[in-house]
Amino acid sequence: MIYKIALDGPSGAGKSTLAKNIASALNIVYVDTGALYRSVGLYMQKNSILPENTQGVIAALPKVKLQMKFLDGTQHIYLCGEDVKDSIRTPEISMYASKVSAIPEVRTFLLNTQRDIAKTTSVIMDGRDIGTVIFPDADVKIFLTASLEARARRRTEELAQKGINEPYEKVLAEMKERDSNDSTRKVAPAVAAKDAILLDNSDFSLEQTFQAALSIIKSRLAL
Ligand code: DC
Repeated sequence: MIYKIALDGPSGAGKSTLAKNIASALNIVYVDTGALYRSVGLYMQKNSILPENTQGVIAALPKVKLQMKFLDGTQHIYLCGEDVKDSIRTPEISMYASKVSAIPEVRTFLLNTQRDIAKTTSVIMDGRDIGTVIFPDADVKIFLTASLEARARRRTEELAQKGINEPYEKVLAEMKERDSNDSTRKVAPAVAAKDAILLDNSDFSLEQTFQAALSIIKSRLAL
């Protein structure tokens, strides 16, 4: 049986960790769609095109060559042939990604890349509009969320582990701005699908989040 699990929610809710754990427990593919928007953002930054320059971004899209590969269960993303797995994770590129993702042409540009991956294999895909736009027919839809403060605290720790030391207040402010960009944009705003199950993990450990999500998925898929 091929099935699709849509995992949406705001930044810092822990979607990628959860999706990775679920993918390995169920032996399915994990797709991080934020990496696609981040790669588009990185291309613009590298080519000195500001994300607010909508026409410039649209004009550059045909030159953005993206490829996703799954090596030993880990997603690698290639931008014009170069593995950008790590360089897309900076705060600057987070903001570029958030801004370019509000441009409808960027979303259309990435639509088929996302849909094609799920044609031949079961996936858990994380993003903002997976349950609403990419796979309205997903077998399971989870909207994972947590308070702004909890998400900012986790993101600060995650960045510190990578050697990026950003003050909590700065991370909080940037997250607030991104939340607002992502949830109020006209196209595909980050909102829960009507039939998504809401999971608020503000007070959950990673393990509790995992167990809660796994039981939702198992009961939906009758596994
Ligand atoms: O999940 P992330 O933080 O890596 O995503 C980076 C940005 O990309 C985020 O601010 C919103 C955007 N995004 C989106 O609009 N749709 C998706 N499916 C995934 C990400």
